[in-house]
Amino acid sequence: PEIVVLASGGGSNFQSLIDAIESGALNARIRCLIVDRDCGAIARAKQHKISYFVLDRYNHPALNLNAQAILCHNVHLIVCAGYLSILPNSFLNMFANQVINIHPSLLPKYGGKGMYGLKVHDAVIRAGEKETGCTVHRVDSGLDTGEVIAQEIVEVSVLDTPESLQKKVLDKEHQLLPETVKRLLNELN
Ligand code: GRF
Repeated sequence: PEIVVLASGGGSNFQSLIDAIESGALNARIRCLIVDRDCGAIARAKQHKISYFVLDRYNHPALNLNAQAILCHNVHLIVCAGYLSILPNSFLNMFANQVINIHPSLLPKYGGKGMYGLKVHDAVIRAGEKETGCTVHRVDSGLDTGEVIAQEIVEVSVLDTPESLQKKVLDKEHQLLPETVKRLLNELN
């Protein structure tokens, strides 16, 4: 089975998929990486000889959409791993139920507009939550609103800072994402 990964950041979740494939834990091929800006994920693609495409997120939205659709043609799963651009409905309609995203909280808590990066963990700590975690969900036309597929819990300690919590949650993400991709690809058979 083939997947496409979309990223905008450091790409550590992208790396977790590469590692799972290279170790044999995940039977899949990454057709390509799509990024919407210059970002750390690109170096990981280069290092592992995975094709990558940089889309211009400011201009030519129609062209971007066509490029994404062509790159994703006939793949089994499209994985958003820290992708910050919104996928238009026209794209989602072409790939119904095949687009998933990983989010660093226990959705539906701490999702939606402005909830990304350290802001999520800052909000969790400010609210005095005892636990947080990460979620893999299907992407629908809302922001972080699609069906929850898998979640993993992380305990919040009174000593946690947004940075320490981000690290703990990210470690869990790196397990949850490849595991969930594996399960979803298995379900195709
Ligand atoms: C992760 O926390 C992910 O949940 C969120 O963006 C971050 C991406 O990190 N959507 P990385 O680029 O995979 O390191």
